[in-house]
Formats: sequence, C-alpha cells, structure tokens
Amino acid sequence: MDEWLAIAFSDQLKEGDFRGVEVLGKEILIGRSREIFALDNRCPHRGGKLSSGRMKDARIVCPYHGWEYDINGRLSIIPSTRLKPPGISLRRYEIKESLGIIWIKIGNPIYDVSSFFPEYTNSNFRKISCGPYIFKNSAPRVVENLIDVSHFPYVHSGLLGDLRFTEVPDYDVQLGKEGVIADNIKVWQPNPDGLIQGKWVTYKYKVPRPFLVYFSKNDSSKIFSMFFSVTPISEDESLVLAFIAMNYAYDVPEEKIRGFEDEVMKQDMKVLEDEEPKYLPLDLKKEIHCPADKASIYYRTWLKELGIDCCVK
Ligand code: FES
Ligand SMILES: [Fe+2]
Repeated sequence: MDEWLAIAFSDQLKEGDFRGVEVLGKEILIGRSREIFALDNRCPHRGGKLSSGRMKDARIVCPYHGWEYDINGRLSIIPSTRLKPPGISLRRYEIKESLGIIWIKIGNPIYDVSSFFPEYTNSNFRKISCGPYIFKNSAPRVVENLIDVSHFPYVHSGLLGDLRFTEVPDYDVQLGKEGVIADNIKVWQPNPDGLIQGKWVTYKYKVPRPFLVYFSKNDSSKIFSMFFSVTPISEDESLVLAFIAMNYAYDVPEEKIRGFEDEVMKQDMKVLEDEEPKYLPLDLKKEIHCPADKASIYYRTWLKELGIDCCVK
C-alpha cells in the first residue's frame, strides 16, 4: 500500500503531548516536541508500552524500567547500568501535517493530500472539523457508506433523506487518474446542513485515494463540502476525521453544525457496526447490487485494480 493515512487532527497534539495510535494493526507512538514524530510504541527491552510512559527533556521514558528514547527513536539511557546503551533505535515512521491533520506515510505515496480539499485554503469557506469518529467496521466499508445516497431515507430520515423520496435517479460515475468520481446525484434533503431548511441538492463525490472521500453539494450558489479521511485501525475498525466547508451561514455557531454531523455519523456508525462481513468483497458476485450502487461498484473495481490488500477479499 502506498498511502498517507490520517492519524489525528493537528490541534489535538500540542507541544509536549504524545500518545498511542493504531494504524493497520500496528501500535504507533506519536508526539510533538518542537517537531512531530512517530515511533514504534513497544519498547524492545520487555515490550513496555511507551505511550503509557512520560516525556522528559524531549525523551520518551518507558514506564517499565525507565529506558529513554529520543524523538528520533534512539535509545539514549538505560538507568540500571552505567554502560553506554547499545546503538538501538525504535522504528521511525515518516509523518507530516497537511489540511489540519497529521498523516503517516505507508509505503511510497506520490500524491499531495492537500490537493483533494481545495476549500481548506479558500477564505470564502468556513471550515469546521468533525470527529474523530471510530467506526466498528473496515475502512472500505466506511468509504462506501460515505458515497452511498440510497441509505439516506432509511438511516438519516429527517436529516439527509426522506422516505417519500427513495428513488435515486441515474447519475454519472467515472474511474480515472483522479480515482472514482460520481456526479449529478440529485437528492431531496429535509435538513441538508443542520439549518433545517429542506431542499433539492446535487452531489458530486470524489474518492481520490482508497481511504479519502470528498463531496460537494450545492443548490444555486450555496456550497456545502466535506472531506473525510478513513484510516484502517485494523481489519474491522476505522478512524474517521472530517472537515465541513461552507460558503454560507457564517453566523451559525460551529457547535450547531458539528452537532448535526455528529448525529449523522452516529446513525452511520450503528448500521456499519451491524454490517457483515466487515471486509469489502471485491468479487462483484458476492453481494447483490442495484443501479444506485454504481459508485460502489466502480470503487470495488478500482480497489481490485490497485491490488489493495487491506480489509478486502
Ligand atoms: S520494557 Fe521498556 S524499559 Fe523495560
Ligand atoms: Fe450515512
């Protein structure tokens, strides 16, 4: 896999902070001491969990026998001996910050995540961070949920959908260099943005990478966009970080709009927790599809082409 995977919002890791995260089943310690760093979260001495230790003079102190590692992972002190520590280092992961999110490098990705959410630097849009949300399902199942409008009347009735309008008119989908793009999806929404004003909206979805989703929906000049990172914590658990961008409703409190998104996500979490199997079947014969599932069929086809080996079968 060659991806940047999101692990935390930048503002949740302040100077001097450190904590454990899990990505693709690996335990990783992330921290900020002038710069951000990511290391193996297990001490090679006796497997102590470093994120349960403490930070002292820009070094991580293992909670078990006090071995100290600098932020590059180098073992610098063994308190129980006067001997010089052997030249041992914890595995170090490359990480970076972009779009207000900390990303960890897996393999050799050759893209720039910031290009997938242009509203982030556009001052006409207000940005509201949402999450983190933990989904008890695999990352590709979550991505498919995020690009599926036919569940709106059932899972988000009264918010994103209405049981009087269950039909999904045909829409455009393409698969190309920019990933999967689904466009011209028309949906009636009783409450499309938390402002309780029903309207017809037209969605455009982009899945530029297997674990990133962007959508933009508009009616006339009002644009409501969202960017989601969906990181596989393990084969059946995912971390979702999101941003809303809106070029209207500047005066509505952030908490109100975030509360609306929290409610929508809570509804999705429930159905996704119950969904089986947790992995995404890439063999199209393994589940039954209908015309509204066009975007998800393209997504599965693409994952197969890419040879993605996490959370799929
Ligand atoms: S396990 Fe970490 S110092 Fe012993
Ligand atoms: Fe949903």
